[in-house]
Amino acid sequence: MAKRGVFVVIEGLDRSGKSTQSQRLFEHLQEKTGKARLLKFPDRTTAIGKMIDGYLRSESDLDDRAIHLLFAANRWECAASIERDLLAGTSIVCDRYAFSGIAFSAAKVAVSKSSEGNEVRESILTYEWCKSPDTGLPAPDMVIFLDVTPEVARSRGGYGEERYEKEETQLRVKEQFRKIEQDVVKNFTGIEWWNLDASKSLDEISESIRNLVALPSDGVPANINKMWM
Ligand code: TMP
Ligand code: MG
Repeated sequence: MAKRGVFVVIEGLDRSGKSTQSQRLFEHLQEKTGKARLLKFPDRTTAIGKMIDGYLRSESDLDDRAIHLLFAANRWECAASIERDLLAGTSIVCDRYAFSGIAFSAAKVAVSKSSEGNEVRESILTYEWCKSPDTGLPAPDMVIFLDVTPEVARSRGGYGEERYEKEETQLRVKEQFRKIEQDVVKNFTGIEWWNLDASKSLDEISESIRNLVALPSDGVPANINKMWM
């Protein structure tokens, strides 16, 4: 078996505990293997990331397609170093990735009024369109989706000030994540998808994650798959 690192993506809605769990898994892998790297998308430190940050904080407005492409470009900025590190035996824990990219963009709707005066919601971007800019990125070995209900999210202090941190949006995003899960399970066997109940305690969730990640790290296939290919 090859000695390349394992590539784990932690996904979920806002307030699902992704950042805490990503940090804990990173520390665990660092301790166990001595070679781990923690990544987070969006990476707000790059020039592209600063544009994304301004958009999320509603300091700027951008066309829906333009911001989607910026999120993808922000991942492409890291693509070569992800591959290099994995091949050099470093494991990577990534807090959000291309899955969030699709889920949040495909969840966007335009609201209008029908002739009867009812509110009509129509998708702005198709699922397939949202997938394409990330096609070819290094694919993770596994995605761990931290599943949280809007009630639990609310009990954790509710959502913040940023764009997308609204219950209505989060519910639509969750539907898109389900669609992505089905797509991955059916069509992309190189990516394992796991759902974890994120209403459990931090320690219980960390333990479940460590147990899941122990499996592929014992025998990671040498090749690195490409996203959506
Ligand atoms: P964060 O709270 O993890 O920093 O993420 C910021 C927001 O950006 C969050 O609401 C999810 C959203 N997002 C996208 O819309 N597209 C993407 O590609 C990524 C990575 C995040
Ligand atoms: Mg956030």
